[in-house]
Amino acid sequence: MDKTVVLGITGGIAAYKGAEICRLLVKSGLKVKVIMTRAAAAFVSSLTFETLSGGPVGLEMFQRPASWEIQHVSWAQEASCFLIAPATANIIGKTSQGIADDLLSTTIMAAAGPVIFAPAMNVEMYNNVVVQENIARLKSLGYHFIEPESGFLACGDQGRGRLAEPQKIVDYLLKVLQQKKDFEGKTFLITAGPTREPLDPVRYLSNYSSGRMGYALAEAALERGGRVVLVSGPVGLKPPFRADFTAVNTALEMRDAVLKEFPEADIVIKAAAVADYRPEDISLQKIKKSGGDLVVKFQKNPDILGELGKLKKQQLLVGFAAESESLAENASRKLKNKNLDMIVANDITAPGSGFEVETNQVRVITRGGEIKDFPLMAKRELADKILDEIITLKKST
Ligand SMILES: Cc1cc2nc3c(=O)[nH]c(=O)nc-3n(C[C@H](O)[C@H](O)[C@H](O)COP(=O)(O)O)c2cc1C
Repeated sequence: MDKTVVLGITGGIAAYKGAEICRLLVKSGLKVKVIMTRAAAAFVSSLTFETLSGGPVGLEMFQRPASWEIQHVSWAQEASCFLIAPATANIIGKTSQGIADDLLSTTIMAAAGPVIFAPAMNVEMYNNVVVQENIARLKSLGYHFIEPESGFLACGDQGRGRLAEPQKIVDYLLKVLQQKKDFEGKTFLITAGPTREPLDPVRYLSNYSSGRMGYALAEAALERGGRVVLVSGPVGLKPPFRADFTAVNTALEMRDAVLKEFPEADIVIKAAAVADYRPEDISLQKIKKSGGDLVVKFQKNPDILGELGKLKKQQLLVGFAAESESLAENASRKLKNKNLDMIVANDITAPGSGFEVETNQVRVITRGGEIKDFPLMAKRELADKILDEIITLKKST
């Protein structure tokens, strides 16, 4: 593989494992350039990395360069990928706050390609809310993280914080390098989450949708080179940083946002769980319980997916069907009636499937009647499978 990886080594006990990672990267056919922090150099000698990578190791920002290029910029440009392994709490914190005060942090800041952190630290450090917030922020900005493992730590503690296995880190990096960019130039319109239909100023009707499937699809589409417009009901998730994000509450707001974005979209995935009904009257005052039983009249919400099916031109339209009975029949009917190109159906009563869980098990049906069943898997993994099906469908038209 004719690609260059910049390997950043930071100052923790696991710095010595960086040598094994360097060796495995070279063995995979990658060109490796190593940058060590000052703290890392207190743990292992740069000579080890010079020998393993077959080149000079970057140590100081202001060392006299061998050639007159600005090293942090030229290495950042040359690198197809950055790997910081082990990554200290310090480098994670600095990157999340935009601090560039040494060669490694400055080069990371100049990086255009993917950056992967493999953290390693004491369990209390790893669990510190500040560290966790920094990780969450960086993840939302598109940085990759390889979770540390649990076990006996060098400091004598027991818990999560041990650097992931070198082979696992290298395998992850190779996967990132091989990431398909098969949606470059395509615009996705993805909806996610529930809607909230107000009854009075403090109450609403909603459902258990967590938004995870839609957000996973947005992430996958971005990683595969697409532009993503994400329209989301209220959920507890951070939208991917690079998505164009619109937050909505009600089905009517969702309809407005979707119709506005629809003309520009190439692929529309409606993963939101839009309420079918809304209270006909919204009380301006909080409804009091003194009035005895409460009878609420519900009014039908617009069928957004059906409307899109009628308006559809270049757009490839994908719907979701969350059913608790007669899954195949209901999903196939929806596909036909709403003029969809594909429907992703899931039985929300199946264990590990549907709302509020990290996993899903679905059946994908296309307009041509092809059926594909996917086993239970993480929603993020399933998102890629659904995108693969979209590619297959596009090729067949
Ligand atoms: C013996 C020893 C072990 C350390 N191990 C870790 C570690 O595993 N993870 C970590 O985040 N910091 C660790 N530290 C603290 C870092 O070395 C310190 O935060 C340093 O400023 C990191 O600098 P760097 O991120 O520029 O490499 C350790 C410090 C010492 C003295």
